[in-house]
Amino acid sequence: MSEIKVNLGERSYVITIGSGILSELGKIVTSAGNYTLAAVVTNPTVAAHYAQPVLDSLHSAGVRTEVITVPSGERFKTLNTVRKIYDGLIEAKMDRGGAVIALGGGVIGDMAGFAASTYMRGIDFFQVPTTLLAQVDASVGGKTGVDLPQGKNLVGAFCQPRAVVIDIDTLNTLPMRELRSGLAELVKHGIIYDQAFFHFVDRYASELLQRIECPLIEAITRSVQIKVNVVEQDEREGGLRAILNFGHTIGHAIEMLSGYGKYRHGEALAIGMVTEALLAEEMGIAEPGTVNAIAKVLARLRLPIAMDPALSTADIVRAIELDKKNIGGKIRLALPIKIGECRVFADITRDALIAAIERHGAGRL
Ligand SMILES: NC(=O)c1ccc[n+]([C@@H]2O[C@H](COP(=O)([O-])OP(=O)(O)OC[C@H]3O[C@@H](n4cnc5c(N)ncnc54)[C@H](O)[C@@H]3O)[C@@H](O)[C@H]2O)c1
Ligand SMILES: [Zn+2]
Repeated sequence: MSEIKVNLGERSYVITIGSGILSELGKIVTSAGNYTLAAVVTNPTVAAHYAQPVLDSLHSAGVRTEVITVPSGERFKTLNTVRKIYDGLIEAKMDRGGAVIALGGGVIGDMAGFAASTYMRGIDFFQVPTTLLAQVDASVGGKTGVDLPQGKNLVGAFCQPRAVVIDIDTLNTLPMRELRSGLAELVKHGIIYDQAFFHFVDRYASELLQRIECPLIEAITRSVQIKVNVVEQDEREGGLRAILNFGHTIGHAIEMLSGYGKYRHGEALAIGMVTEALLAEEMGIAEPGTVNAIAKVLARLRLPIAMDPALSTADIVRAIELDKKNIGGKIRLALPIKIGECRVFADITRDALIAAIERHGAGRL
């Protein structure tokens, strides 16, 4: 069991990572506060596997519980579902002396975190992420929120949890595609911040796919530490935190244009990272060989790297120009300088973007 401290002044907290540690949750919750009630927000899939151990742990620490179940999937990450969580909290007579426990993937974490940060002007919450993506990314850093019909994550709040408990055993029931989707974010952390970690993931790709405990726990711990380092330096994305968006501008466009059904987030991210690295290399920003190194590790993890031929360049560019992260008409992209280092460029031209998408689509990879 290892602990990573997130240093954010009075909002500081600890992320505990280990195998079989759901049983520690009760102790972790009670050491953070004297809560009268814990509302476990989860979905039916996750509840079937993990609600009981979580409830047992909370009960044995003397915490009263309530379970609020919401439907599974991104299409339910809406204000309507948040409203149902509020209803559940009111029905359970939750007051400011209680806490929310988000038990599930990134959808549950974002939504339960948002509900907790707004219910009665904000109550405490804990993250118990059960997908690899949520463990290495969504549960860390305090971004919470929901989607609107107009776009993803358009409503939300920065709100840090009181603690995060990552039990890697929960990954044993995770479908393979979801595991690979999380591995894409893990690779991204290596590309943007830590060359040695990138090589570690490359070397242990097949063990990670087989969920072998030893490299998996090390990969999760190092990946979480990278995100924590970035968030500690820039909690509210005033600058550095934007490097976490590498691959996401094109990745989000691909997800949106294919109706959020064809690709898992990490799959679209994998394709996006290749295109954006291609752009960086062609502009002379990234060292030669960067694209090939990225594509090689993604392929070893059996993630897609080729541009989807069903998508037109014009549609992708249009989707990017609508992206909320573009300021003043210029295209802002986080691009690698080399493996392990990334910077934000605020003035990428439309033409350079078009050229990279076309080149990627033309099958250079
Ligand atoms: N807040 C942030 O900083 C941040 C960062 C990255 C992503 N996100 C958000 O995270 C969401 C994606 O998260 P996700 O990829 O975890 O998807 P998800 O939450 O939809 O989970 C994927 C699927 O796996 C199932 N599942 C979860 N844990 C399981 C387990 N242990 N065993 C079996 N099945 C399990 C879920 O029911 C779901 O069907 C997106 O909404 C994205 O916007 C947020
Ligand atoms: Zn992502």
